[in-house]
Amino acid sequence: MIPLEVREDIPLTEKVIYFDNAATSLTPVPVVEALTKYYLECRGERVHRGVHTLSEKATQAYQEAREKVAAFIHARPEEIIFVKNTTEALNYVAMGLQIGRGEKVVTTELEHHSNFLPFLRLKRAGVVCEVLEATREGVLEHFEKIEGARLVTCSYISNVLGTILPVEEIGRRAWKTGALFCVDAAQAVGHIPVDVRELDCDFLAFSGHKCMGPTGIGVLYMKKGVEEVVEPVFLGGGMVKEVSVTGYEVTDPPRTIRSRNASHSRCCRARCCCGVHQKGGAPTDT
Ligand SMILES: Cc1ncc(COP(=O)(O)O)c(C=O)c1O
Repeated sequence: MIPLEVREDIPLTEKVIYFDNAATSLTPVPVVEALTKYYLECRGERVHRGVHTLSEKATQAYQEAREKVAAFIHARPEEIIFVKNTTEALNYVAMGLQIGRGEKVVTTELEHHSNFLPFLRLKRAGVVCEVLEATREGVLEHFEKIEGARLVTCSYISNVLGTILPVEEIGRRAWKTGALFCVDAAQAVGHIPVDVRELDCDFLAFSGHKCMGPTGIGVLYMKKGVEEVVEPVFLGGGMVKEVSVTGYEVTDPPRTIRSRNASHSRCCRARCCCGVHQKGGAPTDT
């Protein structure tokens, strides 16, 4: 349910009766204004990669976006990686962990394809992919399958049923067996408070466009320390400390992990959209 004071900022709500927020949400004016402001005041960008005034302004706006998004889910700024959407974030997890033959991943029957197919694909590389089945009522069972897993991944809120999954229980079991725990929060961030510390998850993914943010931007939260076991999926400019014809050493995350040139303008709008959520109205510091 969109609070009235936020609805007032969404001109489209005067023209349509919109019920499809689970698929994608409408965009409030302050989010659009944040994009315009970025293009008018910071464009010339190259976040972290230039020394001139515009680049520094863009870098500052980008850092502020990371801080705001981090606060939104109770993370630290350095744990926030901007990606294109939830799908990209979850594929990063599936590919970046380099899960090997004979290792086990666990997902559930209630997942969106974005949190299912990237892990099912690992079967081709000899990975064991176990699926927690759900009863006809949508209740997950056979948690014992989690035993011995390297990674357990599940959604916070099911896009199929709209139910909140037992993430605490699944996380606890993952932790007990020494597995990494990943949460697909695509449906959750726009509807309930999300706290990565409480969830004690290692990864959490969501998309801007489902929580009144911009399209084309998503977030991968990666708990501090976990980057040690995640290989960057893409390599390119601004991602290495050193390179020679014989090898390279990557720089520290999150810069290595994010897609090269993740849209900076959208990151800044993402900051604004968190403001909309937190204040239940137009943010003051777009
Ligand atoms: C639970 C869940 N996960 C992942 C996704 C994929 O989101 P996106 O298309 O923004 O990557 C969706 C989209 O509907 C979803 O509902």
